[in-house]
Amino acid sequence: MTEAPEIAFAQAYDHYSAEEHETWRRLYARMLPKWHRYANPKFLQGIQALSLDPLRVPRLEDVNRFLLPLTGFRAKAVGGYVPAFTFFDCLANREFPTTVTVRGSNCLDYLPEPDIFHDIAGHVPMHTDPHFAETLVRFGECARKAAKLNAPPAQLAAIIRAMARFFWFTIEFGLMRAPAGSGPGLKVYGSGLLSSYGEIEHAIESPAVQRYPLQLEWVVNQSFEIDRYQPLLFVADSFEHLYGLVGELERWMLAGKLDNVAPGPPLVKEEDLLSFRFITSPVH
Ligand SMILES: [Fe+2]
Repeated sequence: MTEAPEIAFAQAYDHYSAEEHETWRRLYARMLPKWHRYANPKFLQGIQALSLDPLRVPRLEDVNRFLLPLTGFRAKAVGGYVPAFTFFDCLANREFPTTVTVRGSNCLDYLPEPDIFHDIAGHVPMHTDPHFAETLVRFGECARKAAKLNAPPAQLAAIIRAMARFFWFTIEFGLMRAPAGSGPGLKVYGSGLLSSYGEIEHAIESPAVQRYPLQLEWVVNQSFEIDRYQPLLFVADSFEHLYGLVGELERWMLAGKLDNVAPGPPLVKEEDLLSFRFITSPVH
């Protein structure tokens, strides 16, 4: 084993333009009422806990000053694509690889790749919640055990595909039953929805969306496409339920039950496979 490549990157804060700060302001201002209507209460508490500036692109060090004491997580600037194992390994270390670029002012509604609004406003508020933070760590530990398997490429690709699907339908696009006392219906906890002005409402309100109880065997075999509103979403009962399912995912992996998941998207890149050949931390 060799050391994984270093992905750290600096947030050159003074290089943000006035237009980029204005883009952040507009994105934040128009999402705020949607969050109050559709977001899980833990997310709303997270926004408060982080004291995010609604007017300017956040400095990661400011975000981390509030985040670190709560769950030990910190946002870590990255400069581009982070291969699968590297990403999950960061989660196990309570680091969240964070894109620091701002989307163009002409694409407020949709961007296929993450930007700082998706990562900081969509993901990081959830990381203030201890239960949710432990779930992310557990994803990371599952990936470390996958690396330890030293599986041949086809088997490893299937495991990565299964993990990526589970992550997509939960951390990125998950819905959850509204907790007791916060009214009927569903709430959003997935960051792809929490950072999308159009899709957050569509996910909850549209009769075109199929919503089913979160089931591991379904999710790991379910392909998805990233460049459209998701037609199929899964509903977790609670954050405890979600945490338990990540443990179940790991048990399935160790039992070989992820070795033959259905083919199809997402594509597992060569660099994703290679990243699992690096182990940066001891595996227990
Ligand atoms: Fe994301």
